[in-house]
Amino acid sequence: MKDIFDECYLGDLKLNSHIIRTGTWETETEDGGFLTPKVFDRYEKIAKSGTGAIISEIFALDHRDRFYPYSTNTNYKGFFKDYKEITDLVHKYNVPILGQLAFFYYNDGLNQKVEPNDISLEGIRRLQAEVIMAAKKFSFAGFDGMQINMGNNFYLARFINPYFNQREDSYGGSTENRVRIVSEIIKLIKDNFDMHISCRVNPNDVRKGGITQEENIEICKLLEKAGADSIQLTGRTISYAYEEMRLNPFVDYANKLTNELNIPVILGGNLREMSKLNEILNTTNVEFMSLSKPFVAQPDFLAEWKENGEGVSICQSCNNCYSKKESYCFKFD
Ligand SMILES: Cc1cc2nc3c(=O)[nH]c(=O)nc-3n(C[C@H](O)[C@H](O)[C@H](O)COP(=O)(O)O)c2cc1C
Repeated sequence: MKDIFDECYLGDLKLNSHIIRTGTWETETEDGGFLTPKVFDRYEKIAKSGTGAIISEIFALDHRDRFYPYSTNTNYKGFFKDYKEITDLVHKYNVPILGQLAFFYYNDGLNQKVEPNDISLEGIRRLQAEVIMAAKKFSFAGFDGMQINMGNNFYLARFINPYFNQREDSYGGSTENRVRIVSEIIKLIKDNFDMHISCRVNPNDVRKGGITQEENIEICKLLEKAGADSIQLTGRTISYAYEEMRLNPFVDYANKLTNELNIPVILGGNLREMSKLNEILNTTNVEFMSLSKPFVAQPDFLAEWKENGEGVSICQSCNNCYSKKESYCFKFD
């Protein structure tokens, strides 16, 4: 029997468990942008309690981005100091950490909110250069890798989606062309840095004419070919399931995707019970599971699960933390 607390490998990264604390914004800064002691404390609790890997909160590219007020970025004064401290802190517990890059708008220098159809080739090069620069900064700050969020409704999710992208050049049309913007970034980073690159993608797009689950498999294969080390599925389309506390509805799809790829797939969304996580681990080929809100409700809950061999998160999935864009539990803090 496999157990979620078994040591394992996510690509080249050695993990203390199969559980990943997924991207979760902190919104806690003081003195012109420096992280508060609470953030350091939270990271330490998460790392110490048996978490396999951590994905940071969103790092935005531009200060006018929609998610900028709720997230951090690589350009503030204390970035290297704060994050070198955080990466050192979690590495003390042998927990790898990825910096998550996510942006909703892109400012190509001419237009602050240039949409995928309108961005020029120079704009695409500029965007790619900025993402690569962010990767470089993550690497200098001690992160083990970067997660490119090309899921939810973020810019790159729109760019690769035929619903939004009707370009007629080599960045539009076929699946390969639409993914090229990211494939080129991944190749360049992998050729130049020793970094794990994870891509966060939607299982599909619910809009008519958007990405289907079948096309997403092709997208993930192209990301793998470019050098991506892992894929994480978003849980964005599963909000209906929060009331029922049932198994994540993408388990079967994550299993199918895992079987199609040679890189690991991370499942996420509404995972709350140790027994259910072990059930997934033992009845499917999905090896990695990510959680967010349970860590907001209680950053070190995994220590109790590990000790007791069972457990259910105290998180009630009320989603207030998400709505208010804070890593603060309105019920238990
Ligand atoms: C407080 C909060 C902050 C979040 N911040 C991020 C983030 O920075 N990046 C991201 O990709 N997703 C973010 N999410 C979404 C989570 O990563 C996750 O996909 C979602 O909450 C479903 O997982 P859960 O049921 O385990 O909470 C956030 C969610 C919450 C509740």
